[in-house]
Amino acid sequence: MHTDRDDRDGPGGRHGPGDGGQGVGARATGGQGSGGHGDAHDLRHHGDAEVRDDGSALVDLAVNVRADTPPAWLRERVAESLAGLAAYPDGRAARAAVAARHGLPVERVLLTAGAAEAFVLLARALKVRQPIVVHPQFTEPEAALRDAGHTVDRVLLRAGDGFRLDPSAVPEDADLVVIGNPTNPTSVLHPAALIAELARPGRTLVVDEAFMDAVPDERETLAGRTDVPGLVVLRSLTKTWGLAGLRIGYVLASPETIAELERAQPLWPVSTPALAAAEACMTPRALAEQEHAARRVAIDRAHLVAGLREFASDGVRVAEPAEGPFVLIGLPGAAAVRSRLRRLGFAVRRGDTFPGLDDTWLRLAVRDRATVNRFLQALDQALSLRDR
Ligand SMILES: Cc1ncc(COP(=O)(O)O)c(C=O)c1O
Repeated sequence: MHTDRDDRDGPGGRHGPGDGGQGVGARATGGQGSGGHGDAHDLRHHGDAEVRDDGSALVDLAVNVRADTPPAWLRERVAESLAGLAAYPDGRAARAAVAARHGLPVERVLLTAGAAEAFVLLARALKVRQPIVVHPQFTEPEAALRDAGHTVDRVLLRAGDGFRLDPSAVPEDADLVVIGNPTNPTSVLHPAALIAELARPGRTLVVDEAFMDAVPDERETLAGRTDVPGLVVLRSLTKTWGLAGLRIGYVLASPETIAELERAQPLWPVSTPALAAAEACMTPRALAEQEHAARRVAIDRAHLVAGLREFASDGVRVAEPAEGPFVLIGLPGAAAVRSRLRRLGFAVRRGDTFPGLDDTWLRLAVRDRATVNRFLQALDQALSLRDR
């Protein structure tokens, strides 16, 4: 296990799709500044950049928000809430609904302006000395920690190991550990019991479950658990429900941690329409729809993965098993293939901005069967152009 503090992700430290970077347990300190200064990875690049401006007409396989959302009934609930805009937001009903949905008291729930706000609150409010982020994963937690002045260490999981977690790779002295489940961009769903092994007295264990609602039965969720010391679960309502523009998510943690985070929050951080949406997404009807959508994603993902496997002889390799609403693929010349796909009308997410990955990786959002079929045809074309 490497324990040095060089940033080995930088130029010269690149690895092909076969290994995806350092071994499990590799520990590296990210460069300072979250905008990419001193770091080979632009932590502030996100999938939405691929479909802005000249990308706005492309078929979007870059952003992991479920297609055709929000559903009409949810749009109506949000629209109805506009009648109450003259009043300051009152979050009590939404907070109670979230608490009830997870079988927790309200003191264990904090509503936030998306999971993104929670990353900033955690970084600013908690007294932390040795934060560790398990990569490859969504980069904002690390960016927020750095912006709050922390020096962040990384544990890099390896492609050769299926990006699986080895809890012993996380240094004992880490007093804050951040991990995603299922993980963006690898689509790995870590066993809840394995993640729980990371808990220690004196350590905050942050599990970003922004995509857990896209997993059938939310198997492997830690939401609702009160027996894991220092556990902080982050949830988002923006992916499954298509509410990325509304900004709504929540934190589940001990009452003490919730109180600390709440003190760091500005007044009225979650708007009345966002509160209405949160309440609406907690009803049995919404949860049934969520489960249906998760099962649909699993079927569509199986179709996408089966199609991608057909390109094995072109060097395309799928990170499997994929359990989230997106799939990570490795292929030589991925950057050029991505450009060709854009010319063919499809936006996919570049992989090289994720620590632990490089420019031989792409992330694909799972879409419906017809879209996947058209995408696979375009990929075929893009790959054959590469070979010329
Ligand atoms: C893994 C992960 N966590 C959290 C977020 C942020 O979610 P929200 O829209 O709730 O801020 C994203 C957004 O892309 C994400 O991919």
